[in-house]
Amino acid sequence: MEMTDNMTEEEYSSLIIPYQDAMANLMTRLEALNNDYRLKYKNYPIHYIHKRIKKKKSIEDKLRKRQIKISAEEARESLTDIAGVRIICYFVDDIYGVLSLIKRQSDILVLKEKDYIKNSKKNGYRSYHLVIGVPVYHTDGMEYYPVEIQLRTLQMELWASMEHRICYKSDRNVERDAEIFLGFAHQLEEMENTLHRMEKNLEVE
Ligand code: GTP
Ligand code: MG
Repeated sequence: MEMTDNMTEEEYSSLIIPYQDAMANLMTRLEALNNDYRLKYKNYPIHYIHKRIKKKKSIEDKLRKRQIKISAEEARESLTDIAGVRIICYFVDDIYGVLSLIKRQSDILVLKEKDYIKNSKKNGYRSYHLVIGVPVYHTDGMEYYPVEIQLRTLQMELWASMEHRICYKSDRNVERDAEIFLGFAHQLEEMENTLHRMEKNLEVE
């Protein structure tokens, strides 16, 4: 097979079925956690959840970029972000709360974890990244399928969405843009901290 070959529509449709099942399974668990949290602490930790299955073209582009043969089998072997769930929380505390509730579920595997909140990227990007294995039962047994989870506050989501949109335009002054976005990251973190103090009924300057 040539590197330029693509998957057929049929290959793509059957590839994504178990990922959709894994993602639906996770969504149900997250709703239960959010409701239970509400009962205990009188507040929802999750503002909203955005989910997506990677498009056929994005899968092909990613494999091509990594110089991997383009097939459903290779996608299954090497990509962990075919199913992606972004959890937008109110406060950083909520992120670590939801995270520990997910990790405590005994039939879920933690495959990969990156804390860009404690260690933000050089450009100011912040988020908690987690890849988990969710059990999916087939007629002939069980298999784990990866779901990539990004946990963010509303401020982190604002920053990442805007940075993604603005910084992809190639005809801009990249260095100046980066400086501005790093400044925004600090301002948004400050806003997060102030709102958190207000939520806790603490003094703010
Ligand atoms: P990928 O091959 O993109 O998955 O890289 P990786 O495996 O090193 O993962 P990483 O944790 O760096 O980033 C994965 C995802 O996080 C990306 O697809 C984006 O959705 C998001 N992300 C990471 N860095 C940035 C960033 O600097 N800006 C924005 N807007 N999003 C980012
Ligand atoms: Mg990724």
